[in-house]
Amino acid sequence: MKSILSNRKFLITALSITLARFSYSQLAKPSVPAIANYFGTKSRYEDVNPHLLDDIVSINKSLLGPPSSNCHAVHLTAVIRHGTRYPTTKNIKRMIRLYDLIASAATSPQPWVREIKTEWKMWYTEDMDGKLVERGRDDHRHLAIRLSKSFPTLISKENLLNNNLKFITSSKHRCIDSIQAFQEGLFGLWNMEDYDFKHTVDDTLMRFFDHCQRFVEDIENSKTALKEVSLFKSSAEMGIVQRKIADKLQLPHSLVTADLVEAAFFLCSYEFAIKSENSPWCNLFDVQDAKVLEYKNDLKQYWKRSYGHDINRKSSCTLFHDLFRRLDEVAYDLRNGQIKKTATIQVGHAETLLPLLTLFGFFRDNKPLTAEDFSQQQNRTFRTSQIVPYAANLVFVLYDCSDGLRLQFLLNEKPMAFPDISTPTPLYDTVRKHYKELLDGCNFEKECASPKANFKNSEL
Ligand SMILES: *[C@@H]1O[C@H](CO)[C@@H](O)[C@H](O)[C@H]1NC(C)=O
Ligand SMILES: *[C@@H]1O[C@H](CO)[C@@H](O)[C@H](O)[C@H]1NC(C)=O
Repeated sequence: MKSILSNRKFLITALSITLARFSYSQLAKPSVPAIANYFGTKSRYEDVNPHLLDDIVSINKSLLGPPSSNCHAVHLTAVIRHGTRYPTTKNIKRMIRLYDLIASAATSPQPWVREIKTEWKMWYTEDMDGKLVERGRDDHRHLAIRLSKSFPTLISKENLLNNNLKFITSSKHRCIDSIQAFQEGLFGLWNMEDYDFKHTVDDTLMRFFDHCQRFVEDIENSKTALKEVSLFKSSAEMGIVQRKIADKLQLPHSLVTADLVEAAFFLCSYEFAIKSENSPWCNLFDVQDAKVLEYKNDLKQYWKRSYGHDINRKSSCTLFHDLFRRLDEVAYDLRNGQIKKTATIQVGHAETLLPLLTLFGFFRDNKPLTAEDFSQQQNRTFRTSQIVPYAANLVFVLYDCSDGLRLQFLLNEKPMAFPDISTPTPLYDTVRKHYKELLDGCNFEKECASPKANFKNSEL
């Protein structure tokens, strides 16, 4: 117990040091790779919200706030992705293979190739497997401070002490570490060193995809569900990137596979996200190459987590119903006196946020994303670099207004209109009517029942 407290104290000290350093960051602003806006789910949050580069705890007051002066915020539910993390073991293995290949066989005399071979050290090890990095803790500490500044009547010390804040997370370490960092951010802000914050682990809500049998069978374990991704990996566009990179390194074309090109792209993105370094790996790509790799990553998310297959969005029915149940409860409490929960903070994965966004109908393009359509999809709205960077967040804010309850939606702290509802912060009733079909249906048990199990049953 003692050690937990002193550990917390240490973290709070670390946080104040981080806060004190803000002013220096202006002097030594890291140079940003030209391709930083194409890293997909490996994007930094600050590259989606560039004003944070100047002050990481600043909020844009002109964007936030109640829809009118007759409204006040009564509740928010935030669904947040974990912060910056290490690569997974599978990708670390690929990165090591690429590094070894370049170290032993690349003959280019370019200074940056020499830098990769002689100065840069392969420091990623397989045991890092997807864990949260210190930067990732900062992502959540700072987000907590900003959300509290944006909604001071909801995320407040008083509400915390009155047990009006609820914290729920996925069981993965990087998520638990993130939610604790979020709480540390609030500790620091409210000078509460010794308070014992709690959280609930709930994978049914935050990792619904593992529990949806139909999703596991038809998508996760299917050889064909992601065929557009494999087609694109062997497309002409990808071939050009492979050859350009082989030429830059002066390596035989046959050695530079699509997997290794991707490993190089990951190296550039991880060195940047984790260490804020514009590493020599980024020299391997120009913007056109980065767009190709971004499309490859978007295709994967599209077919595995979004519009590509209907079960992807339906797997999030439980989280969808849970959200509306919370909002309904607040509406009920408001009519009957005291609101019990002012804010719910839920931490999960990009794989948690994307299906839910899809179920709500956000970022739906007119044409599906396919391997053939790279050049026709240049203006697509489905861009994971913008939608789900590290610490991406969906925030639903309920306002009590003179004309009734209103619901505001924020993605990554910027307001967004609900698809096909023209008012920016519509009446809560309007939103409920709009999603009536899903609210009355979208039954997880039914949608996720394994087709194979049904087949077996009917045979019996
Ligand atoms: C805040 O938001 C407004 C409206 O979108 C925008 O014009 C302005 O540039 C933003 N300010 C900062 C500091 O990003
Ligand atoms: C994308 O948008 C730009 C700018 O509006 C336009 O010039 C271009 O033709 C569009 N490309 C496609 C493929 O629709």
